[in-house]
Amino acid sequence: MTRPSTYAGKTAYHGDVAVNYDRDRVGEPVWQKEQAWVETWARGVPSGAKVLDVPAGTGRFIGIFRARGAQVQAVDISEDMLAALRGQWAPDGATVVVEQGDAEALRHGDGAFDFAICWRLFHLVPADVAERVLRELARVCRGEIVVEVFGVEAGGPARLAWSALKRKVRTWLPRRSAGAKPWSHITNFVHNEPALRAMMARSGLRVVRVETLTDYEGRPARVFVLRREGSQA
Ligand SMILES: C[S@@+](CC[C@H](N)C(=O)[O-])C[C@H]1O[C@@H](n2cnc3c(N)ncnc32)[C@H](O)[C@@H]1O
Repeated sequence: MTRPSTYAGKTAYHGDVAVNYDRDRVGEPVWQKEQAWVETWARGVPSGAKVLDVPAGTGRFIGIFRARGAQVQAVDISEDMLAALRGQWAPDGATVVVEQGDAEALRHGDGAFDFAICWRLFHLVPADVAERVLRELARVCRGEIVVEVFGVEAGGPARLAWSALKRKVRTWLPRRSAGAKPWSHITNFVHNEPALRAMMARSGLRVVRVETLTDYEGRPARVFVLRREGSQA
């Protein structure tokens, strides 16, 4: 049996980090770009479709899916993030269902969702966790799956190791150092694109398209639109 994974981003989103999550980010141009991208993608989500949002965080996309008439299942590991979500969106248990859960081991049945979105998780998790999440998304979602990855490294292993070292040094610096953000203390992982694509293929997912949203700390933030291998586009 696989042991439960431990990484900083699994436990870091509590207390003030959760309470101030939106306040600290909404003003960022990248946040607004992401919001606009999801709004455009969601035009393909028909009324009544079942959408899984994991990790849902404070529920930044709920209004978008609700406006489409979709049923949203919001899952996050952090009760504090979900408390912030509930405060904003008043889930009704029918069109919006909120549940504490782990993206690595979802409790939902095979093909339970028509669409799934996994946004701003992969930079928090090591490669083995990322692959488990992909497998779970492939299992529970029969339609389009969106995975957004911050700071993808396009180069090979040497560039990847260098990026990882730089990030480590940055998280060692005191939080008040110049340029530190309220989340600078949360360890990040850098993934490279060939490795991500290989993981997706091993998880039974094919890449329908990839878009670059913006640069994040000198590396692209990529959005992968995926489908199960063999499913119709
Ligand atoms: C950077 S936030 C992203 C939230 C949201 N998708 C967004 O774009 O604002 C990362 C979230 O991942 C959650 N998280 C970390 N590991 C998780 C896991 N294994 N399963 C579910 N949620 C997880 C954290 O609690 C946190 O809410």
